[in-house]
Amino acid sequence: MRILVVGGGGREHALCWAIAASPLCAELFCAPGNSGIAAVAECIAVAAEDIPGQVDLARRLAIDFVVIGPEAPLAAGLADRLAEAGFKSFGPSAAAARLESSKGFTKDICRKYGIPTAAYERFTDLGAAERYIRTQGAPVVVKADGLAAGKGVVVAETVDQAIDAARDMLSGNRFGSAGASIVVEEFMTGEEASFFALCDGEHALPLIGAQDHKRAFDGDVGPNTGGMGAYTPAPIFDAAMQRRTIDEIILPTVRAMKAEGAPFRGVLYAGLMIGAKGPRLIEYNCRFGDPETQVLMLRLRSDLLPALIATAEGGLQHFDLRWSNDAALTVVMAANGYPDAYEKGSEIRGLEQAASVPGVQVFHAGTRFDADGKRVLANGGRVLNVSASARTLADARRLAYAAVDRIDWPGGFCRRDIAWRALPKGE
Ligand code: AMP
Ligand code: GLY
Repeated sequence: MRILVVGGGGREHALCWAIAASPLCAELFCAPGNSGIAAVAECIAVAAEDIPGQVDLARRLAIDFVVIGPEAPLAAGLADRLAEAGFKSFGPSAAAARLESSKGFTKDICRKYGIPTAAYERFTDLGAAERYIRTQGAPVVVKADGLAAGKGVVVAETVDQAIDAARDMLSGNRFGSAGASIVVEEFMTGEEASFFALCDGEHALPLIGAQDHKRAFDGDVGPNTGGMGAYTPAPIFDAAMQRRTIDEIILPTVRAMKAEGAPFRGVLYAGLMIGAKGPRLIEYNCRFGDPETQVLMLRLRSDLLPALIATAEGGLQHFDLRWSNDAALTVVMAANGYPDAYEKGSEIRGLEQAASVPGVQVFHAGTRFDADGKRVLANGGRVLNVSASARTLADARRLAYAAVDRIDWPGGFCRRDIAWRALPKGE
């Protein structure tokens, strides 16, 4: 089969790495890709958000199956446009992608179908939002309804902060139309985990759980980011918790989306709060997690591609995937300044030395080659995902940081404490 992967981050590198190993894959293309992906796929400079450009590309390359990585093209209807043009793809329709592109939509689904989540109300009017915030008190959480690259959530410690956030969002100044509607919700306590399930519109095939570190700096402090590192397994997400998540959250959502006339076909990524009463939904994403996918792919022992095809075509009830018992961990190396302003174009050295550490895979998240195609340059906020698998999480962490230490890139930084919750101090 001729496969096209849409996107160009670390998630897409990990997906391309797994798909390239499939006996079903004859030729692999990635648009736009990056300099790491170029080792396993032919990269073509078409932006992930360029919907007509991606459909044209599928036509030009006579693609048999398209795998859509990021949320923006899904929310913009790439899967729908590809289907109209006669192409099969992995990733939900725009209507089903509302589980990520509208937080209010998801909250309403949870309320209607009894899926456990934080209590909430939706607002488009500041006065009404302000009255509700005052009756709830702080801490309280204010969210822009639409896609805001992870920046549309404010966990407010005081009522005034919450009202300021609501005003900021509803004014349209910071988030444009994504903030025209907001959700104000209860602050939940507990530990966060990410869980993934492939869904074919009717059936769900559970993948595995992982934990991500959203804050920029060690000790989980500093600004929110797209994710600074991840690991699997997550001790808090044991088999019993997984069972409850499937029964109480994932399967009710699959049934709900079918009943609503927007069956969900793709990977459902549940951001969970594991509290005293069990798992509750923080939010859904309609695509693979980044950087969680990087550690998932290191533990996957089965061929990924047939599972993605069964997700698109139906038939997941006959599917089973095998996972290694090893642990996997990834450290994100980001450009200095990320998640705020950062520079692009600094040179990265030592990638081969890093990759030669046993058990290590270096996935590229934001890189490009310089003009002569030899030097690797930083080309994004999150730039590298230095990943390792080993029998224990402590060993995976040692290997990943041994590889990080071989990378010579003064323009970047990373956290030094990935997986701290899962490891005793000093390990
Ligand atoms: P989201 O973009 O919805 O994943 O939210 C970003 C982060 O905000 C989450 O990873 C949580 O740490 C936090 N958060 C979101 N909603 C809540 C909530 N209702 N209670 C506590 N923390 C939350
Ligand atoms: N790991 C966070 C995300 O993929 O949104």
